[in-house]
Amino acid sequence: MTTTLISRKEPKLMAPEPSAEASAAHMTPSGPAVRSAAGQAHEAEALVHEAVRHETPVLEIERFSLYYGPKQALFNVHMAVPQGKVTALIGPSGCGKSTLLRSVNRINDLIDHVRIEGDMRLAGESIYHRQIDVIELRKRMGMVFQKPNPFPMSIYENVIYSLRIDGERRRGVLAETAERSLRGAALWDEVKDRLSESALSLSGGQQQRLCIARAIAAEPEVLLMDEPCSALDPIATTKIEDLIQSLKGDYTILIVTHNMQQASRMSDYTAFMYLGRLIEYGPTTDIFTNPRLRQTEDYITGRFG
Ligand SMILES: Nc1ncnc2c1ncn2[C@@H]1O[C@H](COP(=O)(O)OP(=O)(O)O)[C@@H](O)[C@H]1O
Ligand SMILES: [Mg+2]
Repeated sequence: MTTTLISRKEPKLMAPEPSAEASAAHMTPSGPAVRSAAGQAHEAEALVHEAVRHETPVLEIERFSLYYGPKQALFNVHMAVPQGKVTALIGPSGCGKSTLLRSVNRINDLIDHVRIEGDMRLAGESIYHRQIDVIELRKRMGMVFQKPNPFPMSIYENVIYSLRIDGERRRGVLAETAERSLRGAALWDEVKDRLSESALSLSGGQQQRLCIARAIAAEPEVLLMDEPCSALDPIATTKIEDLIQSLKGDYTILIVTHNMQQASRMSDYTAFMYLGRLIEYGPTTDIFTNPRLRQTEDYITGRFG
């Protein structure tokens, strides 16, 4: 990878400056303190299983906190996301899963009262560097949302959207990318004879696979997915889950789900979040069959959430 995230142009969006009040707010968390190994009430010391540390990280979230105005939504989250694996973010509604995911490709910048502390790195490069090229960053990280959001244009134009933005005009390149991406998203056979039809004519499950095709057409390093199956029926959900399995390896996938069966079926690693904090993070089988913290166990056994 030769591209760099630092733009030579003036940045359009800048990281909010960490402020003194932010640091003060940081010292008075409203949620329960998590105890460190040393036993002090040390804030947000997550239990990270050893296996995670043996992986090669592609995305590193470093002591990251986020505030919506006076309200702190993320507390000192520190985690490394392994390359080529599927990592699931689980936790009860409102615990900050979407906030964390949106921070990774800086969509939260679009909300003006958001303030952050800490940093994140993509392949070693700071995501919150003051001169980061946010457009380039978002190209390197595809995002798939809860509700499929195809653009109101043809199936074909949806898939090659990022290439159009880049000014690609060679028909062969466009057609080849469209086919490769649609095949990659397990949609080609269903749409190959109707590429010029409106994307809005597809079913919900097809629309979501189209959004995945559009994301992978840009050849991202990381795919971010925020509850991508929650608006879909069981058959469409199975297709997306199979698709995620087939994309793994080529892509690093960070997926939010509140469906624990789905997390246990699809992911290699699972991170459990609660009240804006990372609580426990480890191999999915360990988190689901042998969690080390009581809080994790209570959540995965359905005692709360
Ligand atoms: N745009 C926003 N402005 C203010 N508060 C927000 C905003 N988005 C989310 N929150 C709050 O941040 C917390 C985490 O929300 P979210 O990241 O959506 O949680 P999850 O995805 O785990 O359900 C919640 O308390 C939510 O109300
Ligand atoms: Mg959410």
